Amino acid sequence: MALLTILHYPDKRLRKIAKRVAVVDDRIHKLVADMAQTMYEAPGVGLAATQVDVHERVVVIDVSEEKNDLRVLINPEILASSDDQNTYEEGCLSVPGVYDEVDRPARVRVRALDLAGQPYEFDADGLLAVCVQHEIDHLNGKVFVQHLSTLKQTRLKARLRKEQRELERV
Ligand code: NI
Repeated sequence: MALLTILHYPDKRLRKIAKRVAVVDDRIHKLVADMAQTMYEAPGVGLAATQVDVHERVVVIDVSEEKNDLRVLINPEILASSDDQNTYEEGCLSVPGVYDEVDRPARVRVRALDLAGQPYEFDADGLLAVCVQHEIDHLNGKVFVQHLSTLKQTRLKARLRKEQRELERV
Protein backbone atom coordinates (compact mmCIF):
# COMPACT_ATOMS: atom_id res chain seq x y z
CA MET A 1 0.00 0.00 0.00
CA ALA A 2 1.06 3.56 -0.51
CA LEU A 3 -0.05 6.97 0.62
CA LEU A 4 -1.33 9.06 -2.29
CA THR A 5 -1.04 12.83 -2.72
CA ILE A 6 -4.36 14.65 -2.36
CA LEU A 7 -5.05 17.50 -4.79
CA HIS A 8 -6.11 20.80 -3.24
CA TYR A 9 -8.87 23.13 -4.48
CA PRO A 10 -8.81 25.10 -6.78
CA ASP A 11 -6.52 22.66 -8.68
CA LYS A 12 -8.02 22.30 -12.17
CA ARG A 13 -7.60 18.51 -12.08
CA LEU A 14 -10.39 18.39 -9.46
CA ARG A 15 -12.74 19.54 -12.25
CA LYS A 16 -12.11 16.50 -14.49
CA ILE A 17 -15.00 14.11 -15.00
CA ALA A 18 -13.99 10.56 -14.06
CA LYS A 19 -14.46 7.64 -16.47
CA ARG A 20 -16.36 4.49 -15.58
CA VAL A 21 -14.27 1.50 -14.50
CA ALA A 22 -14.48 -1.15 -17.25
CA VAL A 23 -12.96 -4.07 -15.32
CA VAL A 24 -12.46 -4.42 -11.56
CA ASP A 25 -8.99 -5.96 -11.71
CA ASP A 26 -5.78 -5.96 -9.62
CA ARG A 27 -5.03 -2.40 -10.68
CA ILE A 28 -8.36 -1.23 -9.20
CA HIS A 29 -7.79 -3.36 -6.06
CA LYS A 30 -4.44 -1.64 -5.52
CA LEU A 31 -5.98 1.78 -6.13
CA VAL A 32 -8.72 1.04 -3.54
CA ALA A 33 -6.15 -0.18 -0.97
CA ASP A 34 -4.02 2.96 -1.47
CA MET A 35 -7.07 5.24 -1.35
CA ALA A 36 -8.31 3.61 1.88
CA GLN A 37 -4.89 4.02 3.51
CA THR A 38 -4.74 7.66 2.37
CA MET A 39 -8.26 8.34 3.71
CA TYR A 40 -7.59 6.74 7.12
CA GLU A 41 -4.22 8.49 7.44
CA ALA A 42 -5.60 11.97 6.59
CA PRO A 43 -7.97 11.29 8.48
CA GLY A 44 -11.17 11.57 6.51
CA VAL A 45 -14.53 9.80 6.10
CA GLY A 46 -14.45 9.58 2.31
CA LEU A 47 -12.15 9.89 -0.68
CA ALA A 48 -12.82 9.90 -4.43
CA ALA A 49 -10.18 8.81 -6.96
CA THR A 50 -10.40 12.27 -8.56
CA GLN A 51 -8.84 13.71 -5.40
CA VAL A 52 -5.69 11.61 -5.92
CA ASP A 53 -5.54 12.53 -9.62
CA VAL A 54 -6.94 9.22 -10.86
CA HIS A 55 -9.91 10.02 -13.06
CA GLU A 56 -11.89 6.81 -12.70
CA ARG A 57 -15.16 6.26 -10.83
CA VAL A 58 -13.87 4.83 -7.55
CA VAL A 59 -14.85 5.99 -4.04
CA VAL A 60 -13.95 4.79 -0.53
CA ILE A 61 -16.04 5.75 2.51
CA ASP A 62 -15.92 4.91 6.22
CA VAL A 63 -18.30 6.90 8.42
CA SER A 64 -18.02 4.50 11.40
CA GLU A 65 -16.68 5.69 14.77
CA GLU A 66 -14.29 2.74 15.01
CA LYS A 67 -13.01 3.10 11.42
CA ASN A 68 -13.77 -0.54 10.72
CA ASP A 69 -16.54 -0.27 8.10
CA LEU A 70 -14.84 0.44 4.78
CA ARG A 71 -17.26 0.83 1.87
CA VAL A 72 -15.95 0.57 -1.68
CA LEU A 73 -18.09 2.11 -4.42
CA ILE A 74 -17.04 1.49 -8.01
CA ASN A 75 -19.12 3.25 -10.71
CA PRO A 76 -21.55 4.53 -8.03
CA GLU A 77 -24.94 5.87 -9.13
CA ILE A 78 -27.75 7.59 -7.22
CA LEU A 79 -30.90 5.66 -8.14
CA ALA A 80 -33.30 7.81 -6.11
CA SER A 81 -33.13 10.87 -3.83
CA SER A 82 -35.60 11.95 -1.14
CA ASP A 83 -37.53 15.18 -1.62
CA ASP A 84 -36.65 16.33 1.87
CA GLN A 85 -33.25 17.90 2.36
CA ASN A 86 -30.73 17.95 5.17
CA THR A 87 -28.22 20.66 5.98
CA TYR A 88 -24.82 19.42 7.02
CA GLU A 89 -21.55 21.20 7.74
CA GLU A 90 -19.23 19.64 5.18
CA GLY A 91 -15.49 19.60 4.89
CA CYS A 92 -13.16 18.03 2.32
CA LEU A 93 -9.60 16.71 2.31
CA SER A 94 -9.10 18.75 -0.88
CA VAL A 95 -10.17 21.98 0.88
CA PRO A 96 -8.34 21.79 4.22
CA GLY A 97 -9.61 24.00 7.03
CA VAL A 98 -12.84 24.97 5.26
CA TYR A 99 -16.22 23.84 6.62
CA ASP A 100 -19.59 25.14 5.48
CA GLU A 101 -23.23 24.17 5.37
CA VAL A 102 -24.53 22.38 2.27
CA ASP A 103 -28.13 21.30 1.58
CA ARG A 104 -28.62 17.90 -0.05
CA PRO A 105 -31.35 15.25 -0.24
CA ALA A 106 -31.58 13.59 3.18
CA ARG A 107 -31.76 10.02 1.82
CA VAL A 108 -30.47 8.36 -1.32
CA ARG A 109 -30.59 4.89 -2.86
CA VAL A 110 -27.24 3.95 -4.34
CA ARG A 111 -26.00 1.30 -6.75
CA ALA A 112 -22.31 0.47 -7.18
CA LEU A 113 -19.94 -2.39 -7.94
CA ASP A 114 -17.99 -4.08 -5.15
CA LEU A 115 -14.37 -5.30 -5.27
CA ALA A 116 -15.52 -8.49 -6.98
CA GLY A 117 -17.12 -6.40 -9.73
CA GLN A 118 -20.60 -7.37 -8.52
CA PRO A 119 -23.41 -4.79 -8.39
CA TYR A 120 -25.02 -4.05 -5.01
CA GLU A 121 -27.52 -1.48 -3.75
CA PHE A 122 -28.06 0.25 -0.42
CA ASP A 123 -30.08 3.03 1.18
CA ALA A 124 -28.16 5.81 2.89
CA ASP A 125 -29.21 8.52 5.32
CA GLY A 126 -27.44 10.80 7.78
CA LEU A 127 -23.69 11.26 7.31
CA LEU A 128 -23.46 8.33 4.89
CA ALA A 129 -25.96 9.99 2.52
CA VAL A 130 -23.99 13.25 2.70
CA CYS A 131 -20.73 11.44 2.08
CA VAL A 132 -21.96 9.39 -0.90
CA GLN A 133 -23.31 12.52 -2.62
CA HIS A 134 -20.17 14.54 -1.81
CA GLU A 135 -17.88 11.83 -3.25
CA ILE A 136 -19.98 11.30 -6.40
CA ASP A 137 -19.78 15.08 -6.91
CA HIS A 138 -15.97 14.70 -6.94
CA LEU A 139 -16.23 12.08 -9.71
CA ASN A 140 -18.28 14.63 -11.66
CA GLY A 141 -15.60 17.29 -11.20
CA LYS A 142 -17.41 19.16 -8.44
CA VAL A 143 -16.04 20.20 -5.03
CA PHE A 144 -18.49 20.91 -2.15
CA VAL A 145 -17.64 24.62 -2.08
CA GLN A 146 -19.32 24.89 -5.51
CA HIS A 147 -22.62 24.37 -3.64
CA LEU A 148 -21.96 27.62 -1.72
CA SER A 149 -22.98 31.13 -2.82
CA THR A 150 -20.89 32.85 -5.51
CA LEU A 151 -19.86 35.44 -2.93
CA LYS A 152 -18.55 32.76 -0.55
CA GLN A 153 -16.67 31.04 -3.40
CA THR A 154 -15.06 34.33 -4.50
CA ARG A 155 -13.97 35.09 -0.92
CA LEU A 156 -12.62 31.58 -0.46
CA LYS A 157 -10.56 31.70 -3.68
CA ALA A 158 -9.15 35.12 -2.71
CA ARG A 159 -8.19 33.75 0.71
CA LEU A 160 -6.54 30.65 -0.76
CA ARG A 161 -4.61 32.77 -3.31
CA LYS A 162 -3.38 35.00 -0.48
CA GLU A 163 -2.28 31.98 1.56
CA GLN A 164 -0.49 30.57 -1.49
CA ARG A 165 1.38 33.87 -2.06
CA GLU A 166 2.45 33.88 1.60
CA LEU A 167 3.72 30.33 1.30
CA GLU A 168 5.73 31.25 -1.81
CA ARG A 169 7.34 34.17 0.05
CA VAL A 170 8.68 31.92 2.84
NI1 NI B 1 -14.25 15.95 -0.67
